[in-house]
Amino acid sequence: TAGQLVLGIETSCDETAASVVHRSDDGRGMIRSNIVLSQIADHAAFGGVVPEIAARAHVEAIDAVIEAALAEAGVGFADLDAVAATAGPGLIGGVIVGLTTAKAIAFAAELPLLAVNHLEGHALTARLTDAVAFPYLLVLVSGGHTQILLVRGVGAYERWGTTIDDALGEAFDKTAKLLGLPYPGGPAVERSAASGDASRFTLPRPMFGRAGADFSFSGLKTAVRQAAEAAAPLSDGDVADLAAAFQATVSAVVADRIAHALDRFRAEFPAIAVPVLVIAGGVAANRALRSGLAAEAEARGFRLVAPPLALCTDNGAMIAWAGAERLALGLADGLDAPARPRWPL
Ligand code: KG4
Ligand code: ZN
Repeated sequence: TAGQLVLGIETSCDETAASVVHRSDDGRGMIRSNIVLSQIADHAAFGGVVPEIAARAHVEAIDAVIEAALAEAGVGFADLDAVAATAGPGLIGGVIVGLTTAKAIAFAAELPLLAVNHLEGHALTARLTDAVAFPYLLVLVSGGHTQILLVRGVGAYERWGTTIDDALGEAFDKTAKLLGLPYPGGPAVERSAASGDASRFTLPRPMFGRAGADFSFSGLKTAVRQAAEAAAPLSDGDVADLAAAFQATVSAVVADRIAHALDRFRAEFPAIAVPVLVIAGGVAANRALRSGLAAEAEARGFRLVAPPLALCTDNGAMIAWAGAERLALGLADGLDAPARPRWPL
């Protein structure tokens, strides 16, 4: 079968990314190219992503990144069936760069445009990598998002849980900063925690045991700050112990929250023998968190699907794929599609 070839563009945070993905008529995905240019070095000196720097860096990189994605896939604009770009949510300057570029390509090459919700890209990635069938449960934990979603179908999402304050990745990044660890904080906290004693400091477990599947992390961050101040000046050992306590606490909280959602899924879909839990987002790289989730999933008879890390963090393939799934349903967007800083699924 011929299927469809889609170019996907992602510029909503600090990665300039483009990818060419093929979707067969029976719904199988194949990544033909996946180029991700990280801006981490541009932002490191500031300890976080600076929106204006990000937008400028996207402008400078986007053409070359798209050219590289097409070249690696061995195709030109004329071979494409559609072009997709993140239209939000995200840092608006960057979103405008990617979406406007996609519109220009769509107009010039006379292709359908798909203005994709970034979260939908994360939500559907497991169908690209593992051909997961609907419905499934998704836990999305990144620098900007912490959500538990029921994925019923393309465009049919129910939010079962979300953070009432900080995103989990943000909590990792802020904790790293408090402990004097480098940006991005998540990997640094995980590395430091490896040699730490998680039991030396006792931290609060926000939302643990509560009904529902919502999260809260800002109180935890405050508790880390207070513990760090009380133990100052911090030795490397103190930092490792605090990092370990933080990581163990968030892992326990996330496992507890997901347990509630898994039970609800079981109750709503009793006919599904082996339901699927998908994890996505940059924080899903964390091994402590992963093993906590895997234990809950296994205990409840769920299959845990974790797409490869390069497809969990922001990339163009997830946007191309979400576009391809929408295109297959006959959906497309006009050239007046807006760029949206906020856009709940
Ligand atoms: O999905 P992502 O690449 O970008 C978006 O935010 O959309 O996620 C980045 C976040 C950052 O907050 C980073 O600190 C966190 O993921 N992260 C981790 C780990 N690797 C990345 N957090 C905890 N442990 C890790 N190993
Ligand atoms: Zn993302």
